[in-house]
Amino acid sequence: MSTRRVEVRTQRPYELRLGRGIAGESLAAARRRSRFAVLTDERVWALHGERFGAGDAPVVIVPAGESSKSFARLETVLDALAEARLDRKSCLVAFGGGVVGDLGGLAAALYMRGIDVLQCPTTLLAQVDSSVGGKTAVNLAAGKNLAGAFHQPSGVWIDVDLLATLDDADYASGLGEVIKSAVLAGEEDFARLEANAEALLARDPDLLLDVIEACVRQKASVVESDEHEAGPRRALNLGHTLGHAIERAAGFGRVPHGVAVAVGMQQACLRSAQEGVLQDRDLPRRLMSLCRRLKLPTGLEELRESTGAALTEGELADAMRLDKKGAVWILPVRLGEVRAVEPRRPS
Ligand code: GLY
Repeated sequence: MSTRRVEVRTQRPYELRLGRGIAGESLAAARRRSRFAVLTDERVWALHGERFGAGDAPVVIVPAGESSKSFARLETVLDALAEARLDRKSCLVAFGGGVVGDLGGLAAALYMRGIDVLQCPTTLLAQVDSSVGGKTAVNLAAGKNLAGAFHQPSGVWIDVDLLATLDDADYASGLGEVIKSAVLAGEEDFARLEANAEALLARDPDLLLDVIEACVRQKASVVESDEHEAGPRRALNLGHTLGHAIERAAGFGRVPHGVAVAVGMQQACLRSAQEGVLQDRDLPRRLMSLCRRLKLPTGLEELRESTGAALTEGELADAMRLDKKGAVWILPVRLGEVRAVEPRRPS
């Protein structure tokens, strides 16, 4: 089967490659450099390390999970790159999910004032969203992703075979971002998810290739129009205003990011109807039905029941006030069109 390619025309253009069994090709690209190192996490390395084939290249392994997105961990990664004698022409291969991609991207942005990073995402969420577009960050006590940089990767290798071993919670999290992408893209993408929900849940590899390609093409077009999020890129935050608040109020790591985004999107739809922004009256029902079929919660109440988190209105309002994006709501108008609405100032 041939590898699919998508170009991202940012200031420094790069290519996304999609296919089955192509993870090792990221290493072939890295070997063409003077030196390289691999950053991964314990879980990914235990599952895929042997087949990845890093040979005797230095491999930096961090604990799996959100706690690795910290300044302390960033420092140990930078120390490891120095110990491995990486130079300015070297590169870092980030082989893992969103945490490894964000941490590796930031380490590459900082090491010797910036080396190349090659992304080889291993989760659905990282494949459809976080590995593309150059956002890198670690968390601070005050919130998620508060210290970071824009540092576009030099290439992204999306191997759908890696998704076969993903646990159900991580897969569901990715599906939340897949739905977001389809809402932003329009009727054709959304209808494809509706028509294939069961096959998508069953992780059909050919369908996954089509769906992920649609997501990354959609994301690439937004990032190309607004690399540093001065305006249009904010659309990618659909579902994130309430989504981030849910993650914060529940305690980071308790509700998977994409699951929180799925609930946030449904709430944004309802709010859009209340504020008279929503033109497609059938969208809330279709969105809720798709979430149900993809085993995502259909609202806050169901999320409270499934996680046991209180997520009170007061907790969520406090969490939104602390959000670095200032709680701007991205409201759907119809499939393929959203509007950014600033929070109301108290009079
Ligand atoms: N994940 C949203 C963005 O890359 O802008």
